[in-house]
Amino acid sequence: MNKAKENSATPTSGPLKIRIGGKEREFDIENPELPDWVEENKLTAGGYPYDKKMKAEEYDETLEQLQIELVKAQAWLQATGKRAMALFEGRDAAGKGGTIFVLRQYLNPRTARNVALTKPTPTELGQWYYQRYADHFPTSGEFVTFDRSWYNRAGVEPVMGFCTPEQHQKFLDETPHFERMIVNDGIHFFKFWLNIGQETQLERFHDRRYSPLKSWKFSPIDIAGITKWDDYTKARDSMFERTHKEFAPWIIVRANDKRRARLAVMRRILLSLPYEGRDLDIIGKEDKKIIGEGPSFLG
Ligand code: ADP
Ligand code: AMP
Ligand code: MLT
Repeated sequence: MNKAKENSATPTSGPLKIRIGGKEREFDIENPELPDWVEENKLTAGGYPYDKKMKAEEYDETLEQLQIELVKAQAWLQATGKRAMALFEGRDAAGKGGTIFVLRQYLNPRTARNVALTKPTPTELGQWYYQRYADHFPTSGEFVTFDRSWYNRAGVEPVMGFCTPEQHQKFLDETPHFERMIVNDGIHFFKFWLNIGQETQLERFHDRRYSPLKSWKFSPIDIAGITKWDDYTKARDSMFERTHKEFAPWIIVRANDKRRARLAVMRRILLSLPYEGRDLDIIGKEDKKIIGEGPSFLG
């Protein structure tokens, strides 16, 4: 029998009972066959506004144009010594890693760094909570992406019991002050929430479980999270309420279709950086069905 590695976050094995859109469902990650109701709803889950993915040709063409603009933006950061920082949050399998990948694909990796921290070490646990993140902030000319961030304390930590309710509340109170300092110091700061539906997440977990290229992405935390969908929703909504500020807005991207989501993120960054040679016609207009700000965007 192939039993999952014991971990405090691993639930009992076997099919999980979950409620989705008012229906009782059973989902068994150990069944190699994806259930029909997951397949049918993976794109439209959670009120997604399109019923077809963007076509590959349109995506590839637009992606390349936006990547060329990003190269110009990076040259501008280096020439002016300005700094930029974008953090990516979202549920497990929201597409953070892939979005960061295409964003950085053609940038000079010396000055476009990605930061993806593991769980805190004992030393880090003894430090000021924000300290280990601040260590990686950009210097002149750098563009730093964060694949997850200090917002762990607004999501996975309270939901999985890795912090106390008091630490969670303190985090929600203090984070706007922390981010105010980042922005006041002149860093171009972006915080993106990639939003996916429940069946979308299940389909991606299933894909990761059976794909030899993606299985490294699949963690016990992901399995434990399957039955904690509603807890994550509550945590997300408090996070939006308490940390969405005019100086550091939550930029929300509907991400069931990875292609539209990635283009929306790149566009938003390009439209916000006044770099030399920016071509607004090439960048194009934002799709307001896909990208918006703050607690009201998801309705
Ligand atoms: P990812 O989705 O980023 O690939 P996981 O799903 O394994 O990784 O974990 C989600 C997040 O939870 C990570 O940022 C990880 O560092 C954090 N995490 C995992 N275990 C703990 C823990 N014991 N205490 C605090 N944070 C943790
Ligand atoms: P996905 O499972 O589609 O989210 O893809 C995530 C991973 O695929 C990324 O972390 C990259 O390693 C890779 N990837 C995504 N987009 C591209 C691309 N345009 N070209 C090559 N590899 C990519
Ligand atoms: C994602 O796909 O959202 C991340 O890269 C991995 C994860 O959170 O499971």
